[in-house]
Formats: sequence, C-alpha cells, structure tokens
Amino acid sequence: MKKGLIITIDGPSGAGKSTLSRLLAKKLGYISMDTGAMYRAVAVAAERHGIGPDDATGLKALCDGLEIRFERDGQGEKVLLNGEDVSQAIRTPEMSLLSSAVSACREVRVAMVRLQREMGAEGGYVLEGRDTGTAVFPDADLKFFLLATPEERGRRRFLELTAKGEKVDLQRTIEEMAARDKADSEREHSPLVRAEDAVAVDTTGLSIDEVLDKMLNIVCSNPAFRSLPTEPVR
Ligand code: DC
Repeated sequence: MKKGLIITIDGPSGAGKSTLSRLLAKKLGYISMDTGAMYRAVAVAAERHGIGPDDATGLKALCDGLEIRFERDGQGEKVLLNGEDVSQAIRTPEMSLLSSAVSACREVRVAMVRLQREMGAEGGYVLEGRDTGTAVFPDADLKFFLLATPEERGRRRFLELTAKGEKVDLQRTIEEMAARDKADSEREHSPLVRAEDAVAVDTTGLSIDEVLDKMLNIVCSNPAFRSLPTEPVR
C-alpha cells in the first residue's frame, strides 16, 4: 500500500521550492526529495574526477558508480555522495553552474530519474526540482509550479549566500541566476516547463508561511489526499 501521495514541486531557482518542499513534507509526515541536490552531487563528483560537462561517456560511467543518498539531520537533510557528506560542497556558486551544465546531459538525467523513481515509488514524498512533475512522476497525485519575479528570486539567493558568509554581488547573482534559468529552460532533454496539470503558485511578495498555507489548502482539498487513512504515514 502507498505510504502517501507523490507531490511534485517544480520551478526556476529561487522560487522557494526547497524551503517549501521541506516544510510541506514535515507538515504531512512525508519525505522531501531535493532532486537538484542530486545533480549538484554529480557535479562535485565530475569535478573531482576531471570529467567535463560535455563528456557524456565519462559522465555515464561516473553516474553508474555513484551512490547518492539523503539522510535526515535535525531540521534538514544531509546529502551523501558515496557515503561522504557533501551538503556544503554542493552549494557553491561554481557547483550551481556546473550542476546546470551536467544536468543537460541525457545520460546523467536517465541515471538520476531512475534513482528518483526508485526512492519515491512507495509514496509519501514531496519531490522538488525542474522536471519532477513532467519526467520523473508524470502521474504524480499533485503537482505544483512555483514562480517569482527574477528580481525577487535573485534577491533571495543573494540573501541566502550572504547569510552563509559568502561575498557576492547582488547584480551578479541575479545575472547568474538568469543565465542558469535560460540554460535549464532551453536544454534539449527535459527542459524546465510547467506541466499542464500543475497548480501555479506565484510566491512574489508572499511570506513562506503564506505560501505554505496556500499549498496545504490545495493538498487538503485534493481527492486523493482525502481518501488516505488519517494516521500519519511515518
Ligand atoms: O535546484 P538547484 O538549483 O539545486 O538545481 C541545480 C541544477 O540542477 C539546476 O541548474 C538544474 C538542475 N536540475 C535539473 O535539471 N532537474 C531537476 N529535477 C533539478 C535540478
């Protein structure tokens, strides 16, 4: 029996996907799967092995030998690459760019999507990324597409990086984000697009709690959710 719904959240960077996926999963007793972190882990491994983003054969061999796992860590989750905690290493601006580049490789996508489907098959998952409602689980029970203006998304990423002590420039952060969005939306394999049946939520000018409330209301009025037993699944 399924442990709960499969809920997907897609959208451009800085729209609030990671935060809301984590909070929504917590409220529902589900697990949050950050699929972007998996592409970032591939980028870290590729850099360490000197494999470039255009080397499809090298990337395929790399992915075949990779083990990527998530482990709960207090409020958040740790990302483990072959057992090593790479949660920090994957979050640098360099890995943001490299992950976007490796994620355009078909072989990398096939390997990650297979892993994501295996992990989420039993249900009770909130997946977030760029293609979770289109390519990973096109039959998901409920799909969200989060949006915000480019300025607001850039400002959020700037504040996030500054809070971590990184020296970054606001204008440059906005430009890098725009370049990455363009690459993610125009690539050949599984580009970022809104699934036809996804519920769009514009987070511009809203607080996290306001967006979470909106999303919870949508989940609670979903017929598949209402037909589940009321006991928490995990
Ligand atoms: O969400 P993020 O910024 O951590 O994602 C890093 C990169 O990975 C992003 O530029 C695009 C790619 N990505 C993807 O192609 N498909 C996903 N489902 C998630 C992320």
